Amino acid sequence: MPRKVVSGPDYDDEYDEYDDYDEDYDEYDETGYGNTQHPAKEEKESLKNSSNTVPVHWTCSMCTFSNHESMMYCEMCGVFRESFVKSAKDGSIKDAVSAVSSELKTSATSKNGSAKTSVKTLALDFDGGAERKHASTSRDKADSIQLASSGSTSVTAKKKTPVLSEEIPVERTNFQLKADESGGASSTSTNDDVTQKLSSDISQLCLEKNNVNVTKPCPPEYKPEAWMLADQEPEVLSQLNLAIVGHVDSGKSTLSGRLLHLLGRISRKDMHKNEKESKEKGKGSFAFAWAMDESTEERERGVTMTVAVAYLETKKYRVVLLDSPGHKDFVPNMISGATQADAAILVVDASTGSFEAGMDGEGGKSVGQTKEHAQLIRSFGVEQLLVAVNKMDAVGYSKERFEFIKLQLGNFLRSCNFKDSAITWIPLSAVENQNLIKPPSDARLTSWYQGLCLLDAVDSLKLPSRDVSKPLILPICDVIKSQSTGQLAAFGKLETGAIRNGSKVLVLPCGQEATVKSIERDSNPCNIARAGDNVAVNLQGIDGSQLIPGGVLCHPGFPVAVANQMELKILVLDITIPILVGSQVEFHIHHVKEPARIVKIITLLDKTGKPTKSAPRFLKSKQNAVVQVALDGEVCVQEFSKSRALGRAYLRSSGRTIAVGVVSRIIGQDQN
Ligand code: GTP
Ligand code: MG
Repeated sequence: MPRKVVSGPDYDDEYDEYDDYDEDYDEYDETGYGNTQHPAKEEKESLKNSSNTVPVHWTCSMCTFSNHESMMYCEMCGVFRESFVKSAKDGSIKDAVSAVSSELKTSATSKNGSAKTSVKTLALDFDGGAERKHASTSRDKADSIQLASSGSTSVTAKKKTPVLSEEIPVERTNFQLKADESGGASSTSTNDDVTQKLSSDISQLCLEKNNVNVTKPCPPEYKPEAWMLADQEPEVLSQLNLAIVGHVDSGKSTLSGRLLHLLGRISRKDMHKNEKESKEKGKGSFAFAWAMDESTEERERGVTMTVAVAYLETKKYRVVLLDSPGHKDFVPNMISGATQADAAILVVDASTGSFEAGMDGEGGKSVGQTKEHAQLIRSFGVEQLLVAVNKMDAVGYSKERFEFIKLQLGNFLRSCNFKDSAITWIPLSAVENQNLIKPPSDARLTSWYQGLCLLDAVDSLKLPSRDVSKPLILPICDVIKSQSTGQLAAFGKLETGAIRNGSKVLVLPCGQEATVKSIERDSNPCNIARAGDNVAVNLQGIDGSQLIPGGVLCHPGFPVAVANQMELKILVLDITIPILVGSQVEFHIHHVKEPARIVKIITLLDKTGKPTKSAPRFLKSKQNAVVQVALDGEVCVQEFSKSRALGRAYLRSSGRTIAVGVVSRIIGQDQN
């Protein structure tokens, strides 16, 4: 991944849903949210208001979603309420879950050359110059991109990684939507339905013998070794993976580049070069963005295409910046990179018309990527959001415009289940360097804003808990030839567990074992990497061709599944064409994209998670359902209850995300 590491901070030169969003929130007092200056008050307001609408609730230990007291499992992610699981294990509800169907176990073969990641890699050479080691672009729709300069249409549009397929449109149909077919609480919903549902879900917890997950004996309980759990060296800052997301042209790369520059992560020489060359190409305003957008194609188009990774340090964190592409054609790349995020900066363009395009698309007729990215980021499990309201210079640092954006976007974010108390709103200007690493100086902003600057807001983020005590899972985001050793290294974030030099790992999907030869964090060698660390792992004893993006490094005794059929609990987003049995979709999971087909729509779920209608003919916007999907190829996957990172899935079609979901059951998995 792109590693922009220099010596560290050394200078600071001068240089609805959506319309009718979730009714749970309809009664929310809009005056009380998102007050950056008074988080405690805001939280109280939030609690007060939510207590009017949700009388009693419990918080999911997995995704922190607030569920109604009557729910046995989380409405958002399907994980069982702890007390319920406990009683299930005790056997007190065993009778209720006895009817579990056995599943076919299909043979699984190793998958080669599956979908590539789209994260690009940069590294600083010894004199501080940013050098690109590798870049893979998943897709390229030059025709559909509004090019910034005339003549740039001649840019060749070749796929760099043909393994990522083109979008496959959902089958069109003359089908007439009937309101009575659309789900909702059905009078036919019976206790049997509920029992069956519970049985199916309990089966994921490995309580039933004939479940596919126990066709092989349950592995022994995993016991982490002492070195894995040892406290991190006190002088080492914790790593925070921070995704920069938002609509196209909102200023994500400019903001990222500016931050790196202010913190001394870009040499004067490089900055000067970027300024000079961007001016010569008539793109002077992209000088800072060029620090992130390094490919010729990206620079000529003025559009980020792949996620760039760079590093900076705050007082509290070693931050891994994941600068995502905002153009709708590159959402798959955004998914692959930003899925590693612990928190996110949602960059919004405050200029007149641009904020609106980010919300409702060009012409106000679709969904802009401000909304799509926010929805995706939340479904990645990200809870903490910094909303950088950028380009405030373009609106004269207007408080009214800022408040307007906060109101509109705040409503939407709430409908995505972001808590007001977890959102920090920051007005800023990347170009005029206002409110980035120190308080603003422009009187038009200081007259009404006394909150945190962006860098302090980053330090106010809390690290999510890290699962060090679980077996290793490292989804491979990228495979790159190491500059120092010339060997192939697997890049990615340790989702769980820990590794050190000499550790044995199982490489999936190929199933070969390998030994960790060396580990690099922020391009520096390190001995141990733990859950949460974003690292490059050099491996010994494996054929390099078996190391593929989308693969997973895991503990040899605790392999993850490799499968091509699974059940998903999904939430359908805003779609115009219904999802049918047989619909072709793109299936996204961690760093893989795979063509897939909806083979069954098993049941609709109501808002409490109860099945309401089995085998509906189609799904439409905002419905919750359980579906079965069949993928063209196999992917490394886990049920969400076992691994959040390998159990979140996204369905896309015709260039749009049509559903977000979690893997509730794996069918015909290869346990390796
Ligand atoms: P994608 O990655 O393609 O989605 O774009 P992006 O969000 O990274 O935007 P980028 O940084 O490439 O900037 C797009 C344009 O916005 C450039 O011309 C920038 O100069 C301009 N821009 C960025 N920040 C600001 C700002 O604070 N004020 C003004 N006026 N323009 C800005
Ligand atoms: Mg960009």
